[in-house]
Amino acid sequence: MKDKMNLENKVVVITGAGAGLGRIYALEFAKRGAKIVVNDLGGQRDGLGESKTPSESVVAEIKALGAEAISNYDNVATKEGGENIIKTAVDTFGRIDILINNAGILRDKSFTKMEKDNWDAVLDVHLNGAYNVTKPAFEIMKENDFGRIIMTTSAAGLYGNFGQTNYSSAKLGLVGFMNTLKIEGLKYNINVNTIAPIAASRLTEDILPQEMLDKMKPDFIAPLVLYLASENCKETGQIFNAGMGFYNRAAVVTGPSIQIGEDGNPPSAEEIMGNMDKISDIEGGKEFIDLNAAIFDLLSPKTD
Ligand code: NAI
Repeated sequence: MKDKMNLENKVVVITGAGAGLGRIYALEFAKRGAKIVVNDLGGQRDGLGESKTPSESVVAEIKALGAEAISNYDNVATKEGGENIIKTAVDTFGRIDILINNAGILRDKSFTKMEKDNWDAVLDVHLNGAYNVTKPAFEIMKENDFGRIIMTTSAAGLYGNFGQTNYSSAKLGLVGFMNTLKIEGLKYNINVNTIAPIAASRLTEDILPQEMLDKMKPDFIAPLVLYLASENCKETGQIFNAGMGFYNRAAVVTGPSIQIGEDGNPPSAEEIMGNMDKISDIEGGKEFIDLNAAIFDLLSPKTD
């Protein structure tokens, strides 16, 4: 086939790969000859409990395909867990090429009922978990001059969703994490991208009707993940929505700036109020590669 992607012998770490999306990614990488660390703590949807069964059963499925995989049961939410996940890859397969930060839990509550333990638990798994695993992985990728890292955000983080202040914060935090890591990875051929999947799993099974869930197979997300993980992937610092065979890119877009206030003096609050339509106008908005480009644009308004 034209432009076939080569993932043969790539060493892939997938967190939370014992079920849902991570399991499908693991199987698809395996079918292309990659070697996989199947990390999964095996807890419940809210993060409580643990079990070796999810990871072990996915490893058995991969071995049945004739591919190589190893189980890891560490908790991404701890520093030691993150280090041990990457150590498992290095000890078993000698390196790490690809990291998919996928492990996740939910603890939905409307904000006044959002107690600290539910806030912390979700931040710990999604955002701190991605830090804990990515830190040791990135060090090795730098040495190898190659790496592909994929963060998993959510429409809840990008756009908001009732009852998910904890989850939205963690998920959009991952976009901020990517925005800077993409810069630090540039000269080492380490690309960092983010996906926002929509798929049937235990995280969505009671939120959506069955006929919709039937169409939301995680198999529609895996091809995008495989591409972003490949050497063919030239994109870095991008966010992609995916679900049911539909794909698009999301971005932070900044509108043109206007200067308000005379002779370098601050404007009054009334002047701000009077200009809110112009300040809010996103027409002709742009994306910026980094903070410097954005600040330069803010301070150089177009005058017509
Ligand atoms: P899932 O619940 O089927 O899979 C998540 C896996 O992560 C589970 O097997 C779980 O045991 C594991 N896990 C949880 N905490 C862990 C920890 N501390 N350490 C290691 N493993 C841990 O859910 P799904 O849907 O496959 O979710 C995968 C990712 O996709 C999550 O990050 C989720 O937030 C994200 N996502 C999913 C969406 C969907 O529509 N299914 C929508 C948006 C984002």
